[in-house]
Order: sequence, then C-alpha cells, then structure tokens
Amino acid sequence: MLAEELLVTLHSDKTGRAHPYHVQIYRQVRQAILEGRLSSGDRLPATRDLAAKLGLARNTVARAYADLLAEGYLAGRVGSGTYVASELGAGSPQGSALGAPVEGDGLAGSPRGLTDWGSRVLREVPDGSRGPALPYDFRLSTPDWDAFPRVLWLQLLGRAVRREAEELGRYGEPAGYFPLRQAIARHLALSRGVVATAEQVVIVGGSQQALDLLTRLWIRPGATVVVEEPGYPEARRAFTAVGAKLLPIPVDADGLDVESLERQTAASAARLVYVTPSHQFPTGVTLSLARRLALLEWAGRRDVLIVEDDYDSEFRYTGRPVESLQGLDRFGRVVYLGTFSTVLFPPLRVGYVVLPPDLVGPFVKAKWLADRQTPTLEQLALTDFLTEGHFGRHLRRMRRVAAERRAALLAAVADHLDSQTEQLTASTGMHVMLPLPSVLGTSPFDLEAAIALRAAARGVGVYPAGPCCVGPPAAPALLLGFAALPTARIQEGIGRLAQAVREVRAEGLPRRGGRTA
Ligand SMILES: Cc1ncc(COP(=O)(O)O)c(C=O)c1O
Repeated sequence: MLAEELLVTLHSDKTGRAHPYHVQIYRQVRQAILEGRLSSGDRLPATRDLAAKLGLARNTVARAYADLLAEGYLAGRVGSGTYVASELGAGSPQGSALGAPVEGDGLAGSPRGLTDWGSRVLREVPDGSRGPALPYDFRLSTPDWDAFPRVLWLQLLGRAVRREAEELGRYGEPAGYFPLRQAIARHLALSRGVVATAEQVVIVGGSQQALDLLTRLWIRPGATVVVEEPGYPEARRAFTAVGAKLLPIPVDADGLDVESLERQTAASAARLVYVTPSHQFPTGVTLSLARRLALLEWAGRRDVLIVEDDYDSEFRYTGRPVESLQGLDRFGRVVYLGTFSTVLFPPLRVGYVVLPPDLVGPFVKAKWLADRQTPTLEQLALTDFLTEGHFGRHLRRMRRVAAERRAALLAAVADHLDSQTEQLTASTGMHVMLPLPSVLGTSPFDLEAAIALRAAARGVGVYPAGPCCVGPPAAPALLLGFAALPTARIQEGIGRLAQAVREVRAEGLPRRGGRTA
C-alpha cells in the first residue's frame, strides 16, 4: 500500500459515543501497520495534507502521529517526514495470532452483505498473516523445526505414496484414517488416561477446526460459554464468532475457580465450558484434582459440554502427568482435544478430537461438509510415525531439549530481568508467562504493547498477555515460548528484551486509560 493513499475513515456520532478524531486516526494507522498494509519505511502523508483531506485541523492529525511516534510505531519528526518504524509491520508480535483486534473501526470499508458471523470474524479476528521471521522469536506453542526428523518424514511420505494406491486414489473417511484413529486411541489411553474407542477419535485439521465445528454444532447465538480468565484467545474467538456470550471465570493457582463458577447464576444457562486443565493457557497452572471432580459433577447435572484442550501436556518436566478430565468423566460430558502442532509442526494441520459417542455422527457430518477430510497422505505417514515408535522417540528427545531451553530461559530472566522466577517454574508446557512491574497511570495493555514493539525493533518476538483476558487484565505480563529457540538465542534474546523494557520505562508512555490495543 502506498502510505500516501492511506485511507482513513472518520466516524462522527451526535450521541458523543464515537472516539475523538485523533484517536480514530491513531487506531486506523496502527491497525494498518499491525496488519502489514503499511510496512517499515513507508512514508505517511504530511499532517497538513491528511488534515486537508479529512477536513480537520492540522493539530488533530499531528496529535495522532505524536502518539504513534511515542509508542514506536512511527519514526521521524512530526512536520518533516514521518515513516513507519523499521522492523515493524506484519511480523511484529501484535500482528500474530495472539494480537488484540483494534476496536471499533474494523468494519470501516468492509464488504457489504456479510453474515453476522462474517461481520464478527472481520471485527474480532486479527489478521493472521506472518511477516518476516524475527531472529529471537519466543513464539508460542511451537517446537523446533530443526529438531524434526525430516529425512525420516520424507521416507514415510514416499513409502505411503508408493504403497497406498488404494487409499490415495479416492476420498478418505471424513472421520480419519482408521489405523491412525486406533493408534491415537492407544496412545491417549496409555499416556493421558483417556477412555475411548477408536470410533470416538476423529481426525481434524488441528484443534482449531475441532473448536470451530463443535461451536457450530452446539452453540446458538446468545448462548453462554464459560471460558478461563485469562484464557486462550483463539478459542474465545470461535465462540464469539457464532454470537456466544462469554462468561469469564477467574483462574488461580489451582486452575479454573470452580466454586466461582458454581456461584454464578449466569452459569446455569451455560452450553459449553472451555478449559486447559493440564497446562492452563496462558498462566501455566494445573487444574487440581478436587476442582476437576467438582467441575465434572457440576457439568453432570446440566446439558453442558466441557471442552478439554490438552494442547501441550506432552511437555511435562517434573512429577507425574495429571490424568485427563476425559478419563475421570462418568457423565459423557467431556470433549477432549489434542494436536500434533505442538509436538511435530503446526502447519502439518493434524489434530484429533475424542467425542462422547452421541456426538460422533453429527461431528463427522460437519467435518465432511467443512472440508471432506484431513489430507490422507499426512495421515498415512503419521500412522507409521506413531506405530513404528518414532513418535515416542521424538517426544523423549523434544522433552529433553525443551527442558534445557526452559532452564536457560529461567536463568536468563533471573539474570537480566530481575523477575521472580519461582513464579515461572511451571512444570509443564512450552511457554512461560512473565509478569511485568506495573507503571502507574499506564494500562497493562499499553505497557505490554509498547514493550513488545520495542523488543520487535531489536529482533525479539514476545507476546502480550493482555489479549488473553476478556476484561481488563489485572497486571501486565508477556508470554514467552522457549521450545523453538536454541539456548544461545534465548540468552541473547532475553538480554535484548531487558534493554527494551529499560528503554520503555526510561522514556515513559503517553498516559491513556483503558484498553487501546
Ligand atoms: C491453548 C492452545 N490450544 C491449541 C493449540 C493448537 O492449535 P492447532 O492444533 O489448531 O494448531 C494451541 C497452540 O498454539 C494452544 O495454545
């Protein structure tokens, strides 16, 4: 996009509910940067020109630019040429899947005639496009591609192509390749205490597809969905896209506060509860056994589904893995989600869902309608990967590597960031949530965003925790994945992050209340 042609659409509103013009300009320019429509080095229109085009006083535009300059989105001097700052754009952390959508202006210039679902998606889902990779990207829930046995994988794919003329010459089962479903059922029974037949296991295009299909089958517009607060934004967006009302329930050291859920009158109308019991996203806590039992008991008395997202429980470093909720469920209420994204590689797009028997039929029909089936070739290779013992070997190796990297991260944080690392020592998973000291008068959102941007300019990818909250976050924090980065990069990356934190603190932030991300 030519920055000179930047389209800014202003909304005026006689009731006084529209944001002031400088805020609207600020937000639209910022959104264009975060979505990669404006990239590093693009020159913005002169304040005089943009003001004339919009019929505003020049000061109004200058004020918006000044805010963007102060937050590091723009570089240059107001009045003598303003550019998008270097190393920003779609690759910045806010451009990622966790990034918060920009409120309010999302529908400006949107195509007419979208459904309610389409409009909500447009408004609430951040642009998922990826920019250039950052050298020190603490990306979340992603294993190290360099550690993946690529040659072996190629051999398994090649073998399947040569061997499976029958399977590859026609559509496969929408529920998935049966031997893969059998292998997953066996693996889950042994490692996670999941109690299910292979017929209850359905192969999906990653856990996100399972969330999407379940939501479409089970949630009517206006229905109540219970989510963890803070929680996984991608799940929340699948629910709100179909018009669900979210009921956020706080998470403490023992996971979802089930007593608080029981006390809420709104919870009695809930259709679905979404939880990450093994390794709560993003805090990293584990749901206690007492609460697991209480949650199942509560759900057993209602027509409600519990969706258990077990996305990275393979990475456990100390103690015994906690059994899945699904394995404890006597009422047939739990839907278990698992993924190969976190152990193999995310663009593989293979996950699985374990359904109560009565949901298998509708779910498989929905899968057929959505995309027919998950690609057969990958399912064939994956079946051999599991049944020939490669998966177990790979997992043991990845666990060892991730444990070393986690230790390196904790040591680097203790050295450079002065943080209380005992708060970070979650015994499971591939990321930590790093609390940041608050800055008086600055919202956690603004502080996290400013630090993430400053870090991105130093080549470091870190992820604000604020977008994980439905309400205003209590305190600022960053999410740092450690599994994909070699130890030396972790050390260097944390050093650079510490510099970014110091700079933001020294320079201060413009005072602004509330949620602006
Ligand atoms: C909470 C949670 N669930 C699921 C996933 C994996 O999603 P998918 O299987 O769609 O790649 C992730 C990965 O980021 C996650 O953090």
